[in-house]
Amino acid sequence: MKCQSFAFINTLEYNQRMADTKPIPGPRGRPVVGMIPEMASDMLSMFTNINNEFGGIAQFKLFSKPYLLITDPAYVKHILQDNYRNYIRGRSVETGRVLLGNGLPLIDGDFWLRERRLMQPAFHRQRIASLTETMSATIATHLDGWRAKASEGQSLDMEEEMTQLTLAVIIQAMFSTRVTDQVKALGEAFKVASSFMLWRSQQMWAPPLWVPVPKNKAYNNALKTLNETVYPLVTAARKNPRNDLLDMLLEMRDEQTGEGMTDEQARDEVVTIFFAGHETTAMAMTWMFYLLSQHPEVEERLRAEISTVLDGRTPTFTDLPKLTYSQKVIQETLRLYPSAYLFAREAISDQVLDGYRIPAGTMIFLTPFVTHRDAKYWPNPETFDPERFNAEQVAARNPNVYYPFGEGPHLCIGNNLAQTEMQMILALALQRYKISLVPGHPIGFRPEATLRPKHGMRMTLQNL
Ligand code: HEM
Repeated sequence: MKCQSFAFINTLEYNQRMADTKPIPGPRGRPVVGMIPEMASDMLSMFTNINNEFGGIAQFKLFSKPYLLITDPAYVKHILQDNYRNYIRGRSVETGRVLLGNGLPLIDGDFWLRERRLMQPAFHRQRIASLTETMSATIATHLDGWRAKASEGQSLDMEEEMTQLTLAVIIQAMFSTRVTDQVKALGEAFKVASSFMLWRSQQMWAPPLWVPVPKNKAYNNALKTLNETVYPLVTAARKNPRNDLLDMLLEMRDEQTGEGMTDEQARDEVVTIFFAGHETTAMAMTWMFYLLSQHPEVEERLRAEISTVLDGRTPTFTDLPKLTYSQKVIQETLRLYPSAYLFAREAISDQVLDGYRIPAGTMIFLTPFVTHRDAKYWPNPETFDPERFNAEQVAARNPNVYYPFGEGPHLCIGNNLAQTEMQMILALALQRYKISLVPGHPIGFRPEATLRPKHGMRMTLQNL
C-alpha cells in the first residue's frame, strides 16, 4: 500500500499525482437521496454489503454528499495511526458537543494532545488497580439485587441491567463515596441527556436549545442537574482528595506549563467519561451473556477457570491476568459485537491512499463491525470461538484486523478500565447465577451510539 501526502510538493507534481489516481468504487445509490433509505433501514447490512461488493475502500452518497467507507485493515491503519494528524474528528462529533463540551473524544490537534497527556496517567494499570475494590463492591451489590427475581423465576432485561450497573460503577469510580445519595439522580439526568444527544444527532433539523419544546426542556433540566452536581463535586475534590478517578484527573499537571485542568475542563471530562465509559461496557456485557447462553461448552470452560482460580472468592486485580480464558471470551465478544461499531474522521488535506484520491473535507466511516466479520481475515467469521485469541492464532494474524478500541494515538484511553470491569462482572455474575436467554426472545441489532440489541435482552437467572 502506498500513501502520499502533498505537504512538500510543487503544483506540477501535485496535478500529476492527482491525475494518476484511480476512481474509488461504490454503489450508485438512488437519485437525490443516495443511500439514505438503506442507511435508515439497516445500516450494518448496508456497510457489510458495500464491503462485500466493492472491497476495503468504497464511496457512497447520502443525499448529494460523498462519504467513504474504509474497512481494509491497511487503510484503517493509514487513517487512525500512520497519518492520524490528517484525519481529524472534525465535523463528525459536532452533535456531541452540546453535552460533552470539549471532552477528549471530541477534540483534535494540540488541544487533544495536551488533554490526553494530562489524563493518561489516571488510566494507568496501577491506578485502575486501586479502583477495583470499590468496583467489585458496586458490582456485587447490584448482582445480589437479582436474587429475588431469580428465586421467583422472573426474567430481566440484561441490556437495562448492564446499563444501570456500568453507570453505577463509573459514577462510584469517579466520585467514590461522595455521591452515594446522588447516584440515582445523576444516572437519570445522564440518561435523559445522552438520549437527547442521540436523538438530536439523527435529526435533519432540531429547534435551538432555548426554544421551550418538551424535549429541549427535559434536556436543559437534565443538564442543569448534571452541572449542579458535577461542579460542586469538583470543588469538593480539590479541597478534600479521596484517591478516586476525579482526584486523579485533578492531580495531573501539564509537563510544560505545570497547569492542571480548569473546573470547566474537569466537568467536560467527567461527563465524557460517563458517556464513553459505561454504555460501551454495558453493551459488550449484554452480548457476552447472550453468547454464553448460546454456547454452553464455552460457559462450562469459563466456570471451570473461575472456580479453579478464585475458589469462590471475590476476584482482586491480581487475579485477573490468571483468568486467561475469560479474557479470550471478552475479546471474541468484542470481535462479533464491537460496542463502538462505527466512528468517523474528516480528511483535512488531499491525500492519495494506495492510488485512491481522498480530497480534503471527505468524511470517512470506519467500522470494526465489518472488518471483524470479513471472511478475508477471519475464517468462519460468524462463529463464536474464543480460541481465535490464543497466542498462536493471534501471532499468525495481521494485528490491524481487530480494533474494538480503535488504534493509534486515539486508542481508547479507558480500555484497561473496561477490561478490568468486564472481567469482574463476568466472574462475579457466574459465581452467583446460571443465566439463560428467554426461549424465543428475538435477536437483532439496534445500532445507536453503541451496538445495542434490537429488542433488549430478556434473560432468566438460576441461583447457584
Ligand atoms: C468495551 C468498552 C469500550 C469500548 C469498546 C471502547 C471503544 C472506544 C473506541 C473505538 C475509541 C476510539 C474512537 C476514535 O478513534 O474516534 C474510544 C475512545 C475513547 N474511549 Fe473508549 N471504549 C470502551 C470503554 C471506555 C471506558 C471505560 C472509558 C473511560 C472510563 C472510555 C473512554 C474513552 C475516551 C475518553 C476516548 C477518547 C480517546 C482519545 O481520543 O484520545 N472508553 N473508545
